[in-house]
Amino acid sequence: MKLSAEQKERVEELLAQMTLEEKIGQMNLESPSIVGGFDVPFEELIEMMTDGRLSKEEFQKIMSTAQRDYHEDDIRAGMVGAMMADDPRKNNELQKIAVEESRLGIPMLTGFDVIHGLRTVYPIAIAEAGTFDPELFERTAHLAARESRAHGINWNFAPMIDVARDSRWGRVSEGPGEDPYLGSTFARAKIRGLQSDTSDTADYVAACLKHYVAYGACESGRDYNTTSMSVSQLHNVYLPTFKAAVEEGAATAMAAFNDLNGVPCTVNPYTLRTILKDLYGLPGFVVSDANGIKECVAHGIAEDEKDAGCQAVNAGLDMDMGTHIYKDHLKQAVEDGRVSMDVLDDAVRRILSVKMWLGLFENPYVPEDVIRLYEQSGLPEADVQTAREAAEKSIVLLKNENGILPLSRGQKISLVGTLAADAKEVCGAWAMSWKEEDCVSILDGLKKSGADLAYYPCGGPEGELNEEEIRRACADSDVIVAVVGELCSMSGEASSKADITLPGKQRELLEKLLASGKPVVTVLMNGRPLALGWEAEHLPVIVEAWHLGIEMGNAVANVLFGDVNPSGKLASSFPSVSGQCPMYYNHPSTGRPGSNSKFTSRYLDAPHEALYPFGHGLSYTTFAYEELHVEEQSDCLHVNVSVKNTGDHTGTETVQLYMQDVTASLVRPVKELRGFAKVELQPGEEKRVELTLKKAEMGFYDNQGQYVKEDGLFRIYVGGNSRDCLCEEIRVKF
Ligand code: BGC
Repeated sequence: MKLSAEQKERVEELLAQMTLEEKIGQMNLESPSIVGGFDVPFEELIEMMTDGRLSKEEFQKIMSTAQRDYHEDDIRAGMVGAMMADDPRKNNELQKIAVEESRLGIPMLTGFDVIHGLRTVYPIAIAEAGTFDPELFERTAHLAARESRAHGINWNFAPMIDVARDSRWGRVSEGPGEDPYLGSTFARAKIRGLQSDTSDTADYVAACLKHYVAYGACESGRDYNTTSMSVSQLHNVYLPTFKAAVEEGAATAMAAFNDLNGVPCTVNPYTLRTILKDLYGLPGFVVSDANGIKECVAHGIAEDEKDAGCQAVNAGLDMDMGTHIYKDHLKQAVEDGRVSMDVLDDAVRRILSVKMWLGLFENPYVPEDVIRLYEQSGLPEADVQTAREAAEKSIVLLKNENGILPLSRGQKISLVGTLAADAKEVCGAWAMSWKEEDCVSILDGLKKSGADLAYYPCGGPEGELNEEEIRRACADSDVIVAVVGELCSMSGEASSKADITLPGKQRELLEKLLASGKPVVTVLMNGRPLALGWEAEHLPVIVEAWHLGIEMGNAVANVLFGDVNPSGKLASSFPSVSGQCPMYYNHPSTGRPGSNSKFTSRYLDAPHEALYPFGHGLSYTTFAYEELHVEEQSDCLHVNVSVKNTGDHTGTETVQLYMQDVTASLVRPVKELRGFAKVELQPGEEKRVELTLKKAEMGFYDNQGQYVKEDGLFRIYVGGNSRDCLCEEIRVKF
């Protein structure tokens, strides 16, 4: 986000005309309040949905008819800087009040959670990250931005770029996985896709980096829980995605709910001002997460709401989501001298700058023909194609014994599992605006692709098994395709789990299917890495298909039949048992690395290593790595390796480059991803793959937050996953 000199001047002119109240109004993010239309209070409805008295569908139905207060009078009075909504005509209507009826005519930002697509839903982020494909990350973000703009949304609460290493945390589904390097690549590409095509205002939005910061490190994987860590870990693991995104021009950020080393991120001047604004140079503003300011009272860090508001604004939190604390208390706080005019002006300047950059002063409304484009019954074909491509590339083949996959169309398939037929379950936890008519279930995808198929629900993530259907599924087929996993509601926000094995009776279902002696192909639909120790031992084939978005069914069918050769890799390690969490490949070296001997860093009752490590993913062909060469140049290492397709299918491999700083002044990880390249190879074909490791990227942050590069021995690893690599040692001088 960059403003011209003229735009900057216009921001200053506006600021100079604003009253204190109008300034505070800009710092207020409203959402339409539900004011009635049903018999119980809104809070109870939420509780009823949480405890299962009300299904998600029933809840949504009630919501669609609920009466809302859109705060028109506040908008008119200039007291609403931003609104959270996704209805294009309503957005135009509200914007018209802001532009034509408020004293200064300042347009509102319209924010919404478009995490992996709006109506066109792409794979959840943890799945898409596993494509290791920055061009794709950018493309899906760009299409999502265009679709958002058509709905009047000009500010996306995305990308979610929390590095997350504990799969008990339900929100691992929303982000790019466990690795800071892959996460940073993802973050940069998402910012380019969301923001950088500024040629046409209908095509881009302001991004909002979230959740800043270290939210993914919540203790025990429990959502909203405390986090604590060294300065070095913060800078090496949790900040890099945010730094990368700001370097790419990200406009705004959202403060996380958690406290970090005892200070809630909402009121943390070190992370908000010192790092994000002063050091990284975030050009736009920071918004709280929903209710975040008020929660500082519950954190026990603020005496009351006013105190929380003063701490937040002074720490550098520019906009209040959901509490009205700024609106109700900031005027008094300024008059009392607890908040200076300079602090307030800085916040408002940042907010106005984002609006100016977005072109909202010139083009505040969504044109009617753009609205109509997305109201048609079908979605634009190009978007659907991209959704399918992204879904196909995100599928990870975890295991394929005896070449059971790919299937042939002549085989008689029993398709099993309630998830297989449920089109509502393909989109993942954070998608809210999909239409069922656009979503392709696995059952529909297989049917369309010409499978010889009979479907038996048998059971799913919840409820009992149907023995009769299991018996028929086993009797009547050449191969069984079992779709098991999690409902969308089992991952995402407020969906932490202590046990991340397959929920309900699905393992029992798989046991019964295996007992038939038929080949069983297991397709997983889930939002987090699962603990698959039992499954990996007993099942011949496991396909990780995540929640892949609207084109899920077509993508799965294409992979199962071999029309598409799977190429996805894991962006997050899979444990054998839940108790191994947090589980991640780039662990600091211990003095007693885990092994079979007693006094090492291990468990008595479980493996110490991942079941499927970061970067793992098979193909219908095989790849061999040979002849790794590492050559030092003045500013980089040239790394090259020979990769050969040793099987009989054309396939794409993601060649991964890791490094280890063998001796350093701080304990360093056993491996760290520092590069990757995708290569397509015909059967028998061999290519030399070249990778560059810049010396500037071979250092680390110390406990003063300083980036240091230390001469000495490094190990360079290259392979098809983070475990099985060729290795070369090299002494490096910086
Ligand atoms: C979530 C954010 C989201 C916000 C607005 C919060 O509960 O943590 O990720 O952007 O709600 O919907």
